[in-house]
Amino acid sequence: MKILRVSKAEPLNGEINVQGSKNAVLPMMAAALLSRETVILHNCPHISDVCDMIAILKRLGAYVRWEGNTLVINAQRINNVVISEEYTRNLRASVLFLGALICREGCVKIAYPGGCDIGKRPLDIHVSALEKLNVKIKEEGCFLIAKGHVNESQIALRYPSVGATENIILASVCVDGIVNITGVAREPEIVALCEMLNAMGADIVGAGGHVITIRGVKRLHGAEFDVPGDRIVAGTYALAAIAVGGHIRINGLKAPDLAGQYMILSQTDAKMSFRRNTWCIDAVGRPKPVSLIKTGPFPGFPTDLQSPVMATLIRARGCSKIVETVYPDRFGIVNELNAMGADIQCGNGTVLVNGVNGIKGGRITATELRGAAGLVIAGLEAEGDTYISGINYLERGYEDICRDLKALGAELEMLD
Ligand code: EPU
Repeated sequence: MKILRVSKAEPLNGEINVQGSKNAVLPMMAAALLSRETVILHNCPHISDVCDMIAILKRLGAYVRWEGNTLVINAQRINNVVISEEYTRNLRASVLFLGALICREGCVKIAYPGGCDIGKRPLDIHVSALEKLNVKIKEEGCFLIAKGHVNESQIALRYPSVGATENIILASVCVDGIVNITGVAREPEIVALCEMLNAMGADIVGAGGHVITIRGVKRLHGAEFDVPGDRIVAGTYALAAIAVGGHIRINGLKAPDLAGQYMILSQTDAKMSFRRNTWCIDAVGRPKPVSLIKTGPFPGFPTDLQSPVMATLIRARGCSKIVETVYPDRFGIVNELNAMGADIQCGNGTVLVNGVNGIKGGRITATELRGAAGLVIAGLEAEGDTYISGINYLERGYEDICRDLKALGAELEMLD
């Protein structure tokens, strides 16, 4: 079992290029199924979630190969529409093959998706939207069986679910007519998916706004596309610099993608600016507390940075409040942080973080991806060494956190 040893950090210093975005590339990989021609994705991160998606694509009959950080996918032949639990249990994004296979083959049998344990993650919005589009869906044991060709339709989502928005788009690209979806998710990853599909010949307008309109096209062709930089990984490193101080530059981002996090992070007293595609963070001493951070769908504060920001604020000069509205139970690291000497109270989807002078290292365990990232930040802050187990979670979304933080002057190493 791998353990990550993290030493107390001096202020961070330096410049790094951010990896490609996990939550952008996963739907793009499902989208590659919609063409019989080759799709090439550059700037693709080497993370275990991508490997799990590759395993599914291969299981369906697609050809996939890595060339450095480029992923080449050819789905000319698909010889299977059944995805068993063995392939879906690690990965929530496996559910995106529901929409993709409906578009491509008109049928799919897929086991319920797994993924990180961050609270309830139902699929009712995906299912009711696909039903509205004329897809018949039934449950059989742990499988969802879906059949049908998408009809033109108007869909109003009760909540801007990222995955449901992506599934509807994937299912509807070749509709005979128009699909109009209101109340959609507005995350940059939705915009990236639509840009990629349009580059493949789709006709989708409105991504990034509240309404998306899809005019069906007969077929999609191949395309070459750059996966955007990962705004959550960038936010994690920015928070690490705010936690222990530092002057860092993170390259490979688009300023609008940082909406929601930029203003909140600057409330810690860190000086931040954005030039071209580089985020500059300058932080001195302990952070200022933030009176209220409320997670929410984009452009709200990202839930995926809630654990990292909590870990950053444990040494703030006062009390911070965090309200988690997306996954109200996503507070798996509170006990670990308190065991290190933090003072965090938790209840009803809210945490109060009373800043303390210092915390100490020890042995702690990660139980989900972004919680693991929060624990790494705590390790940088703590006196002595911190040994983190459950590193497989970190590897789902961070290509090489040791490489990146070492480049900024931190001391950490993976122990096998
Ligand atoms: N929800 C429902 N019914 C549904 C779908 C969602 O009630 O049918 C609820 C969920 O239970 C949750 C909320 O809606 O309370 C948001 O879920 P959403 O569907 O938007 O999330 P997702 O598509 O499953 C993606 C990211 C998550 C990120 C969320 C929210 C990917 C692969 N995953 O998940 O990323 O937290 O959006 O922004 O894009 C991560 O990267 O660590 C991660 C968990």
